[in-house]
Amino acid sequence: KKAMVQDKFNRPLQDLRISVIDRCNFRCTYCMPKEIFGKDFAFLPQDQLLSFDEIERLVKIFAELGVKKIRLTGGEPLLRKDLSILIEKINQIDGIEDIALTTNAVHLVKQAKALKQSGLQRINVSLDALNPETFKAINDRGVSPDWVIKGIDAAIDAGLEVKVNMVVKKGMNEDEILPMASFFKERGITLRYIEFMDVGQSNGWDFSKVITKKQILDELSSKFELEPVERDYFGEVAKRYRYKGTDTEVGFITSVSESFCSSCTRARIAADGKFFTCLFATEGFDLRQLVRSGKTDQEMDEEIRAIWGQRTDRYSDERTEESVKNRKKIEMSYIGG
Ligand code: GTP
Ligand code: 5AD
Ligand code: SF4
Ligand code: SF4
Repeated sequence: KKAMVQDKFNRPLQDLRISVIDRCNFRCTYCMPKEIFGKDFAFLPQDQLLSFDEIERLVKIFAELGVKKIRLTGGEPLLRKDLSILIEKINQIDGIEDIALTTNAVHLVKQAKALKQSGLQRINVSLDALNPETFKAINDRGVSPDWVIKGIDAAIDAGLEVKVNMVVKKGMNEDEILPMASFFKERGITLRYIEFMDVGQSNGWDFSKVITKKQILDELSSKFELEPVERDYFGEVAKRYRYKGTDTEVGFITSVSESFCSSCTRARIAADGKFFTCLFATEGFDLRQLVRSGKTDQEMDEEIRAIWGQRTDRYSDERTEESVKNRKKIEMSYIGG
């Protein structure tokens, strides 16, 4: 077994997030606004996506570098044809202990069983509101929250572990903070509130639209008794709390108010095979070209090792008005969040 790799701040490479497609059936206003991701938007053609065999080969190499967790993302990953076949392949790779998926859940009614059978363990579902009008306005495709809830139920029935992610943005859904908490507490499902982030170039982010963990926690405390939970492992993204007297947890992803770069063990591969060492990166390294160039696994291992070894990313720790406005950041739907 080869040695694992660490970056300039001694952070190991443990998690790999792979975007399998840049398309989505939603047009969430904060992620893929219709004005930009419209009829004429140039999504990636099939031959520019990494194939399943290419992804499998890359995951084997990343596992040698220390990666244990794989998360499949999009766009909407369930729009990638035969995704279960990819999960089956990844599930057989030595060293990979955890395979998860981030989805809007609409296609789970049809796919949950096959996903579970292929070796998927858990999914995180994005749902920003329970009020139909609010949710329809957010996804901008008129999709009712019922479809997402049906997807969540199908996943639970299939035996998948489920968490729910809610992006909170001022003026969009802050009145859903308490209803969402009650709904998922009742069902024993972990809900995580995500601070609205300045990813990409097209979501009109500014600090005045952020609702912080502290504000949300204050609001929850008016209705529920919460106690903090110790983190499970180095590099855990969410800060977790438990409803007193229950096993049900609620979490916060605080990229803006309490950044977590010092323990960031995550790398990302976009749908076209570009490799990024930060969510807020501007340029990626072309793994598709590398994997199609006839290089050996050993040569690829060395190149990726060198990139991680040079890594100094800590965007959220250093976020400034200047970086928010002027940095040419890649889009969330392309890098997968
Ligand atoms: P678990 O393994 O279940 O904890 O998943 P996760 O929270 O790592 O993944 P998920 O796809 O559910 O991400 C939830 C939110 O956290 C998304 O908005 C991500 O963009 C955000 N997030 C995940 N990793 C990072 C990161 O390294 N930096 C920043 N700034 N945000 C992140
Ligand atoms: N800020 C915070 N979270 C976001 N997501 C998409 N765009 C943003 C943003 N600007 C979330 C999605 C999904 C996860 C992968 O990222 O809602 O839950
Ligand atoms: Fe699609 Fe998720 Fe982006 Fe919404 S947040 S447009 S569901 S990728
Ligand atoms: Fe990691 Fe970049 Fe997120 Fe910081 S901002 S936690 S370095 S991905």
